[in-house]
Amino acid sequence: MASHPVLMKGGFLYHLDKAGEVEKIKHGQAEVLDFSLSHNVMSGTNVIGSRGCKDCHTKNSPFFLRKILIDPCDENGNPVYIENWERLGIDQEKLSRLLLEQ
Ligand code: HEC
Repeated sequence: MASHPVLMKGGFLYHLDKAGEVEKIKHGQAEVLDFSLSHNVMSGTNVIGSRGCKDCHTKNSPFFLRKILIDPCDENGNPVYIENWERLGIDQEKLSRLLLEQ
């Protein structure tokens, strides 16, 4: 590591190749990690869903359309986000149903 540093982010490993150029390699360990969040437990009206189905199922859903940071900066210095529905593996067709008020 000390003699050959690498940067892991946004699904890629970056390092200097033998020619001293930055090489970008797709790498599983650079993916965003899923983990259960058991801190900041809420109660009452702060609980998602406590105000009904439209907490999630609505046109501008803060649940399904929530942005998830995948990479803090791409090659142009811009953050890369995907939306929660993509992360959950939901397709476009199903998303359009889920964004209807239930
Ligand atoms: C915390 C967010 C959340 C709340 C609140 C919520 N849902 Fe959902 N709902 C989901 C998710 C996520 C899915 C997709 C599950 C899957 O298929 O993996 C879903 C799926 C559905 C589907 C299936 C849609 C389809 O076409 O496949 C129906 C119907 C539905 N919900 C109705 C309701 C109703 C009625 C309520 C209120 C009583 C409700 N939901 C509250 C998150 C929520």
